[in-house]
Amino acid sequence: MSTAISPTAYNYKVVRQFAIMTVVWGILGMGLGVFIASQLVWPELNFDLPWTTFGRLRPLHTNLVIFAFGGCALFATSYYVVQRTCQTRLISDSLAAFTFWGWQAVIVGAIVTLPMGFTTTKEYAELEWPLAILLAIVWVTYGLVFFGTIVKRKTKHIYVGNWFYGAFIVVTAMLHIVNHASLPVSFFKSYSAYSGATDAMIQWWYGHNAVGFFLTTGFLGMMYYFVPKQAERPIYSYRLSIVHFWALITLYIWAGPHHLHYTALPDWAQSLGMAMSIILLAPSWGGMINGMMTLSGAWHKLRTDPILRFLVVSLAFYGMSTFEGPMMAIKTVNSLSHYTDWTIGHVHAGALGWVAMISIGAIYHMIPKLFGRAQMHSTGLINTHFWLATIGTVLYIASMWVNGITQGLMWRAINDDGTLTYSFVEALQASHPGFIVRALGGAFFASGMLFMAYNVYRTVRASDPAEAEAAAKIAVVGAH
Ligand code: HEM
Ligand code: HEM
Repeated sequence: MSTAISPTAYNYKVVRQFAIMTVVWGILGMGLGVFIASQLVWPELNFDLPWTTFGRLRPLHTNLVIFAFGGCALFATSYYVVQRTCQTRLISDSLAAFTFWGWQAVIVGAIVTLPMGFTTTKEYAELEWPLAILLAIVWVTYGLVFFGTIVKRKTKHIYVGNWFYGAFIVVTAMLHIVNHASLPVSFFKSYSAYSGATDAMIQWWYGHNAVGFFLTTGFLGMMYYFVPKQAERPIYSYRLSIVHFWALITLYIWAGPHHLHYTALPDWAQSLGMAMSIILLAPSWGGMINGMMTLSGAWHKLRTDPILRFLVVSLAFYGMSTFEGPMMAIKTVNSLSHYTDWTIGHVHAGALGWVAMISIGAIYHMIPKLFGRAQMHSTGLINTHFWLATIGTVLYIASMWVNGITQGLMWRAINDDGTLTYSFVEALQASHPGFIVRALGGAFFASGMLFMAYNVYRTVRASDPAEAEAAAKIAVVGAH
């Protein structure tokens, strides 16, 4: 829905667009997740066609859930938060619109090129150079809009949520540009500018910080705004949030080598990555505790407010996955977990439990405000969504823990004569029940998104343009 907005109002149009697309891409990305999870249960679903094989659809899943779903949620919330906490309109409507359409173009490009097999082969950086360049241009524009708005703010200080969003924008630009440095040989093929162990190190410096800055720091910006807002309590400790910020961003950047344990990477670099990952537990939990403690005196609200429940449970999963991660970074633990489904379970504890749940909570918080309604169409449906998401996440990660540890132990079991006790296929057979449970858990989670889509649709349909415009008026006094 588009509403003409006066300059004394926030630019909610771009926020609405990104918020709606978060739901759309969420359904597609997670639906594809359920499909590839089903391929692992029933291999016939590969259909013997190159375009529909697991190998091509898996990177499409990761691109859709991380960059399309997660990315749109980050754009929507950061544009919303920066305007409200700075009490000013975005610095440029046309640049903001460019980021929306540019970002959607990159995603459509991924949907077309990845199933066709065009890929750099670098995980989470698969898009070939023409799309990577477009992505870089959109991202730099995003930075201009975000920081330009901060510069023209009407408030004295910069709210801590914006610090997190700002770091996420700057570091993502740096990671993307450095890791994508390559030599194109044709329109759809390029070779990395780096080689061998250096290439691997640059790739996992990128990969880990895609987790650290894209999937964590940006979403912490979201947490620092939406948790206090929904709980109607100030953040537990502003001082802790500052310590949290600096500690998190200085430590994350060193932890990449934990993805390359026991490889050709120099041993000292692996140990450094391991040590930094263990230290990373402290700021991660500092942030989690800061969010949780914000509910002091407001815990009773969890009984009646499923949006707050999404936000708090996301923090619990954040705490869990940031405890698990440092443990998996210990070399001896990693020698068991690496290559197994344990990693996949860890990924989705963070991705479903933390990233998706906090995004869903934030979107439910924003939608009524963006469309001039008092609340979402149905609180009951949000509650149904909450339980589907929580049960789905638990089924997913519990089955992957069982699978991962089973695989790790079976692969390393050795007979007295030094031969392997189990063949690879035996370990695969043992994993089959876990694959079924994971597909089921994923289906729970994805079906919750359909309830969300219906609820959002009904809320938007009931929207009154005049009220939506009034809601976008910039408050001259009062908090954000
Ligand atoms: C309905 C929900 C989902 C299902 C059923 C699902 C399923 C899957 C499956 C089957 C894989 C491949 C695992 C393998 O290779 O063995 C995968 C990989 C992955 N998914 Fe999901 N997924 C879901 C949601 C998400 C979301 C919301 C995110 C991120 C925000 C996400 C991020 C990833 C990542 C990063 C990987 C690659 C992991 C790695 O390489 O270690 N997924 N997913
Ligand atoms: C203190 C925080 C964390 C640490 C130290 C950490 C550590 C690790 C370790 C050691 C691995 C396994 C590497 C391997 O064996 O290949 C891993 C994989 C992964 N983690 Fe975390 N993790 C943390 C938090 C998170 C969070 C919050 C998320 C998601 C939002 C996440 C997403 C991922 C992904 C996507 C992978 C798979 C990468 C791949 O191989 O494709 N991590 N992490």
